[in-house]
Amino acid sequence: MSLSISLFGLGYVGSVSAACFAHMGHKVTGVDISKTKVEMLDSGRSPIIEARMDELVAQANKSCRLHATTDSIAAVLASDVSFVCVGTPSLKSGKLDLSHVEHVSREIGTALKQKKAFHTVVLRSTVLPGTTETLMIPAIESNSGKKHGTDFAVCYNPEFMREGSAVGDFLQPPYTILGSQSPEHLVSLRELYKEVPAATFETSIRVAEMVKYVSNLYHAVKVGFANEVGTLCKHLGVETDQVTKIFMSDTKLNISSAYLAPGFAFGGSCLPKDLRAITYRGKELDLELPLLESLMPSNAQHVDRAVEAVLATGKRKIAMLGLSFKAGTDDLRESPQVQLIKRLLGEGCQVKIWDKDVSLGRLAGSNRQYIEEVIPHIGSLLSADMPEVLQGGEVVIVGTKIERAELGKLLAPGQIVIDLVNLDPARRPEAKAYQGICW
Ligand SMILES: NC(=O)c1ccc[n+]([C@@H]2O[C@H](COP(=O)([O-])OP(=O)(O)OC[C@H]3O[C@@H](n4cnc5c(N)ncnc54)[C@H](O)[C@@H]3O)[C@@H](O)[C@H]2O)c1
Repeated sequence: MSLSISLFGLGYVGSVSAACFAHMGHKVTGVDISKTKVEMLDSGRSPIIEARMDELVAQANKSCRLHATTDSIAAVLASDVSFVCVGTPSLKSGKLDLSHVEHVSREIGTALKQKKAFHTVVLRSTVLPGTTETLMIPAIESNSGKKHGTDFAVCYNPEFMREGSAVGDFLQPPYTILGSQSPEHLVSLRELYKEVPAATFETSIRVAEMVKYVSNLYHAVKVGFANEVGTLCKHLGVETDQVTKIFMSDTKLNISSAYLAPGFAFGGSCLPKDLRAITYRGKELDLELPLLESLMPSNAQHVDRAVEAVLATGKRKIAMLGLSFKAGTDDLRESPQVQLIKRLLGEGCQVKIWDKDVSLGRLAGSNRQYIEEVIPHIGSLLSADMPEVLQGGEVVIVGTKIERAELGKLLAPGQIVIDLVNLDPARRPEAKAYQGICW
């Protein structure tokens, strides 16, 4: 089925989207305030330099599927769906400038005042979570006098195109994300993307908005990481390319989803020690490695968050489940759970601890020495009896993987559960006062 599309903003995202939707057989009208861009696109020339764009725009123009105008009202009235791809640049402060999104939303609203048929509006510009619902929908509603969900629907559909390969990325994206307040709002978008070979996620508008940011943040972290690692290699006299090639061949831990799920801070006998060693060496070499140097403070901040979450409850009797840095081990060295307990004790909390893998009698060597130095009276806090530990706790901190059946039936009404390990929802207790540390 061919749809009629009006598309606002003929920059990189807008012109590639316009050309690709026309290439897929839809009728597209591009709208921009720039007369030059409108004239170029309307006469079959690409307003941007980008691989394959000249060919796609010329073809779409020849088959009369791609036009452009500065008349936003006419474009909305003649279409079923309006895409919004206007710029969202940074202001001097770093704050997002949403004035173009707001302006176009008002224009679409003005047009919809005159339109009887249901209309779908799709925001593609990168905006912070909440923007579509708190800025765009109210702007369209107030200018049209119509109701979201009844007369029109607004969806969020982020774009994952890279300049330089934008057409290829549009036609074969990593995934298609369709954010809406109701699956019924996605009828036109499903139709538009049905031929696109990619996994499709139908989700809420806020999740869709956030996935775009998380993707870009992660890409930035990857680039910063690769460049700091390369710099270190160069100054340590190690072949960067060899290291990179071997590092990237590990798809089990390195290039994988491992370590990407939000949870508690890292610890153990390796990561903190190795980070300290490398950043210390970097300093000796006079290297600035801000990303690598930020990791220990970032980790410490996460422990602070847990302390604050506990103290914010106003309760001081704490049942701590989990002591070792990772479930299934008894390694306490640099365990963030141990650091958390030490901090809570310092704040005057009474803490009882249960960990099925930790028995003081069995701890030996550096592991025993570590815990005895950090919490000398650990023996009096640790118990192998989970019901007893839970019984005395006003706040239960889940710092290890645990079965819901085990925990659920032992919780008393009124106990507050703070989850540090992101228990699988099926394993979470049904406590009313459940909170995750970062979810
Ligand atoms: N460039 C990319 O590769 C890329 C990729 C994914 C997402 N994004 C996001 O997409 C959005 C657009 O990015 P871009 O690089 O295409 O921006 P851009 O600055 O190249 O283009 C924006 C266009 O919007 C037009 N415009 C402004 N106000 C308008 C109005 N009232 N009516 C009609 N047109 C108007 C401008 O004239 C301009 O042509 C941004 O939010 C960006 O963050 C960009």
